[in-house]
Amino acid sequence: MPKWCHATIVEKKVWTDGLFTLTVNAPDVSSFEPGQFLQLAVSDGDQRINRPYSVASPPGDNLEFFIVLVEDGQLTPKLWGLSEGDTIEVAERAAGSFTLKKSPAAEVLWLISTGTGLAPYIAMLRTDEPWENYEKICVVHGARHKTDLAYTAEMLDYQQQYPGRFKLIQALTREKCEGIVSGRIPALLENGQLEEIAEAELLAGNSTVLLCGNPAMLDDMEEKLGQRDLKRHRSKAPGQIVLERYW
Ligand SMILES: Cc1cc2nc3c(=O)[nH]c(=O)nc-3n(C[C@H](O)[C@H](O)[C@H](O)COP(=O)(O)OP(=O)(O)OC[C@H]3O[C@@H](n4cnc5c(N)ncnc54)[C@H](O)[C@@H]3O)c2cc1C
Ligand SMILES: NC(=O)c1ccc[n+]([C@@H]2O[C@H](COP(=O)([O-])OP(=O)(O)OC[C@H]3O[C@@H](n4cnc5c(N)ncnc54)[C@H](OP(=O)(O)O)[C@@H]3O)[C@@H](O)[C@H]2O)c1
Repeated sequence: MPKWCHATIVEKKVWTDGLFTLTVNAPDVSSFEPGQFLQLAVSDGDQRINRPYSVASPPGDNLEFFIVLVEDGQLTPKLWGLSEGDTIEVAERAAGSFTLKKSPAAEVLWLISTGTGLAPYIAMLRTDEPWENYEKICVVHGARHKTDLAYTAEMLDYQQQYPGRFKLIQALTREKCEGIVSGRIPALLENGQLEEIAEAELLAGNSTVLLCGNPAMLDDMEEKLGQRDLKRHRSKAPGQIVLERYW
């Protein structure tokens, strides 16, 4: 069992109904690698309900978590009900190997996500590591509706700050919106739109691909990437794909 630390909610940012970022002050939580997750817990009587959440903030800051309300879920309705000043518990130590340290070097880094799977990339992009180690970074974020596209302003700032080196590609599946691509991410890879917008090729020889979020997207992408000879990266058998499955 993890050792639990006391944490206070210092900010609750609501992006749209049910989609929110909790910022918590938890001074006793140990440092972590961007991309890792922490367990969050809320007590319900004498029962503690806990789930893993990617940290969306870099080490050293208050901890940020980007969360979606799963209506019939056990924990997220409780997290959604929290307000500034409320307290929760956070595990003392982060876990997981979905980090740039465990990812292979390459020319182009593809950070591909659906929904709240964007969270670990926000943590990574706020550190020097991706900017020092990859020539080009493409963030791909798939969501149902335009209102689900969180952290846009921050990523557009990166686009301005790193012209030609950073590209944000948002893709909507349940709404058509001028200036935003329509369709699921694997289909956009297959029809060439992803690479065209990114102005970068996605090949085994030049790319590292991180995948995070909906497990069906991970499976579909792994299959499509496999057709291009990209394979899962393992310490004993290097490849190009690193993934984090949310459920
Ligand atoms: C390593 C890891 C990191 C994670 N990081 C995040 C994160 O940063 N933000 C986040 O919102 N969730 C994250 N999750 C998912 C999270 O742990 C919970 O599963 C989720 O919040 C639902 O909890 P619940 O108790 O409300 O639902 P439960 O009662 O546990 O019901 C779980 C069901 O909800 C659905 N579900 C779970 N997560 C999601 C999701 N994000 N989007 C859509 N449907 C989902 C699935 O159908 C799943 O079977 C992560 C999971 C893992 C394994
Ligand atoms: N605003 C919100 O986001 C919000 C608010 C409150 C509650 N919720 C609830 O939270 C839960 C999760 O919703 P979510 O929208 O965050 O996550 P999601 O269901 O995982 O959808 C996120 C994106 O992933 C896409 N996707 C699904 N399967 C895919 C595949 N095989 N390949 C590529 N892309 C794929 C979806 O496309 P499709 O549209 O084609 O499925 C959608 O664009 C749901 O129960 C929802 O009702 C969401």
